[in-house]
Amino acid sequence: MPKKKITHKLAFIGAGYVGLVSGTCLAEIGHSVILVDNNKDKIAKLKKGVIPIYEPGLEELVKKNVEARRLTFTVSLKKAVAESDIIFIAVNTPPQTSGKADLSYVAGAAREIAEAAEAYKVVVDKSTVPVQTGERVADTIKQYNKRKIDFDVVSNPEFLREGSAIKDFLEPDRIVIGVTNKRAEKIMREIYAPIKAPVVVTDVKSAELIKHASNSFLAAKISFINAVARICELSGANIDEVAAGMGMDIRIGKHFLQAGIGYGGSCFPKDVAAFITIADELGYNFELLKAVEEINEQAQQLFLLKIEQALWVTKEKKIAVWGLAFKPNTDDMRNAPSIGIIKKLHADGADIHAFDPQALETARAVLGTKITYHKNQYEALRGADALVILTDWDEFKQTDWKKVHRLLENPIIIDGRNMFQPQEMEQQGFVYHSVGRG
Ligand code: UDX
Ligand code: UDX
Repeated sequence: MPKKKITHKLAFIGAGYVGLVSGTCLAEIGHSVILVDNNKDKIAKLKKGVIPIYEPGLEELVKKNVEARRLTFTVSLKKAVAESDIIFIAVNTPPQTSGKADLSYVAGAAREIAEAAEAYKVVVDKSTVPVQTGERVADTIKQYNKRKIDFDVVSNPEFLREGSAIKDFLEPDRIVIGVTNKRAEKIMREIYAPIKAPVVVTDVKSAELIKHASNSFLAAKISFINAVARICELSGANIDEVAAGMGMDIRIGKHFLQAGIGYGGSCFPKDVAAFITIADELGYNFELLKAVEEINEQAQQLFLLKIEQALWVTKEKKIAVWGLAFKPNTDDMRNAPSIGIIKKLHADGADIHAFDPQALETARAVLGTKITYHKNQYEALRGADALVILTDWDEFKQTDWKKVHRLLENPIIIDGRNMFQPQEMEQQGFVYHSVGRG
């Protein structure tokens, strides 16, 4: 006889990139989910069916689950806690200037949960937090819950990539659950039962570390390949061939070996910096990760140098930019490499004309009037001295190169994402620069 599907009442505190996607996906697999956020605007928009971020497939999935009455939104944390048995904390954990994660929102959420809870709750930390945070969350709940309720604290880190977050949630490589007892483990297993993936059950601290160690390892892979790309440039080798040859060794794997202008986004820069400070505080000098950060910064500087070398003088040059988001399929500009590159070119007196398929609005919030924004990729090119590619959006692969050649004043392309083959671009009549190819 097939097992009966057990559904639970869940609340998510924080309806951001992680909370909104995770909450919606958990509703999709049958649970009742209340999403709470203290941003009234965001909740008002969600109630009207307006999704505050661009994430492929999310709008349809939210709509479907709202209509099925499995997904609701509120600004009242108290109401959400009263109506749920399992509460996920998915607030942001932004970096402070020291690199250390700011845990004030996590602490605030723990306190509010404690003040509102009247019966047994499982409090699940989904936000990326330093190892030992679970213990602090448990202490906070004990301190502020006057009714002395029974509760369990769980660590359940997310591994969602923006742009493919729904797929990553519903078809993950693994589900990590850090618990202190079998009761919490059973509930967490029930929640994730409809998802076919290996479940890794650990203690809370190990689960917390799995997240920081995984993201830092992936960032290290990118910095490693960017360092090798530099050696390719200095020696005349080709990074595409080197990466392909390395990646065929399954111990290395072919993913995350794409050289370019370095990693950005809301996770890698923040998590690497946080992991360095976590290690420091525990008494370990994580020099390897410090080098990862340094190489990432160098990747951007070396790319700027390429632009300067290609244009000789950047002052008063008109530069077209394709791609602003930190990666394709998102409108997210958080720590996008484009920000540093564009600010420097602007400071040097260049006139920047940019296009991005999704991130024009979010970019405007960061870059303001420093650049001119275009809704069409070809419009950005008119009379430009060069085209600079900063995000590897798939649609750039369908480009009409004859048109590009006609529109550019000078047929120079500086590609920070190695999207095209140098020989082919040269045959099309361009002077083509990319990263780590001889
Ligand atoms: C998440 C994680 O929680 C972070 O630790 C991880 O490393 C990356 O992903 P993210 O979802 O990207 O953060 O953050 P964001 O999109 O800023 O969403 C956080 C939401 O929480 C916002 O909507 C904010 O309004 C809300 N919030 C924040 C609260 O509701 N209450 C608070 O006290 C603080
Ligand atoms: C990442 C992790 O992959 C995810 O598991 C975690 O939970 C959140 O952080 P995300 O930041 O959305 O996801 O995107 P990701 O695809 O990992 O890319 C991060 C950055 O690295 C982007 O700027 C991307 O352009 C860059 N990158 C990625 C490279 O430069 N080279 C690569 O080979 C891969």
